[in-house]
Amino acid sequence: MHNVRRARETSEGTVVKMRDQLAGKTAIITGAGRGIGRGIATVLAQRGATVVVCDLNAKSAQTVVSEINSAGGRALALEADVTEQASMNAAVAGALKSIGRIDICVPNAGVIGASGYTERAHYSEDDWDRTFEVNVKGIAHTVEAVTPHMKERKAGKIVIIASHGGRAPRFAGFGLGSVGIPYAVSKAAAIQYTHHLALYLATSNINVNCVCPGTLWTPMWEAIAINRVANDPASRDKTTKDVFDESVRQRTPLGRPQTPEDIGKAVAFLASDDANEITGQALNVNGGAILN
Ligand SMILES: NC(=O)c1ccc[n+]([C@@H]2O[C@H](COP(=O)([O-])OP(=O)(O)OC[C@H]3O[C@@H](n4cnc5c(N)ncnc54)[C@H](O)[C@@H]3O)[C@@H](O)[C@H]2O)c1
Repeated sequence: MHNVRRARETSEGTVVKMRDQLAGKTAIITGAGRGIGRGIATVLAQRGATVVVCDLNAKSAQTVVSEINSAGGRALALEADVTEQASMNAAVAGALKSIGRIDICVPNAGVIGASGYTERAHYSEDDWDRTFEVNVKGIAHTVEAVTPHMKERKAGKIVIIASHGGRAPRFAGFGLGSVGIPYAVSKAAAIQYTHHLALYLATSNINVNCVCPGTLWTPMWEAIAINRVANDPASRDKTTKDVFDESVRQRTPLGRPQTPEDIGKAVAFLASDDANEITGQALNVNGGAILN
């Protein structure tokens, strides 16, 4: 009895409050000016991290920073283009100059296709180029920029945002779904990159994992829905929101979409000390829509 009480006292004494989960850590998140990246930045800040909000769109990054700071968090906005190694190097140098260290890196920026995607029934050459430039090489540029610092400190957590669409192909239900193929293949590449990086960086005590979101109503999914309304005869008379809700209903066992904050919570776990022994993994946050 005495031992049981002591054990409980000890474990209660070491419980970390959620708001302190990432206290003292600094995180850099790309594509954090809206959507999932914004949700990740918000949750990491709520859990005590100082967050560097990077985006191609400086104005939206600044808006997210103002929201976080006025809620009592600590955030800094930086304009950066993940497709340019020099731009990411400059962003990381700027973050280090202002804050001094980076513990957590979240390559999140992504695109569904090239400009004009919403009108196309079939992918274009540009869709292959743009999805690979942003969704694959953009991650590599972000990681290349941040790893010299992490290797020097022999510590770091990298959490890549991939997609459950990169784990298994999904039947679009109509013969025109091929416009989504470059995106899905780029996300499979992001998962494979996670595996390689985890092995390569393990000796530097850097954990590399990825989160695979399911279906979220962000500007990216709105573009998918606009494409369906334009190209799928069965969707022609539906609103974009109806197309989204139907997709969630048909494909998600839990029957609901995920939120950017749901993705942020999974990232917070993988970025925390609770995940020190987890590396090279891909975690679905998708309501059970794909099970591998
Ligand atoms: N929305 C979903 O259902 C869903 C599902 C699975 C995976 N994902 C992934 O989650 C991530 C975020 O998606 P989202 O839905 O929030 O998308 P989004 O389009 O709403 O937001 C993407 C953000 O990335 C920024 N960005 C785009 N290109 C950039 C570049 N070259 N450099 C820097 N920033 C750039 C944009 O300015 C924007 O702020 C993406 O990697 C996406 O593939 C989304």
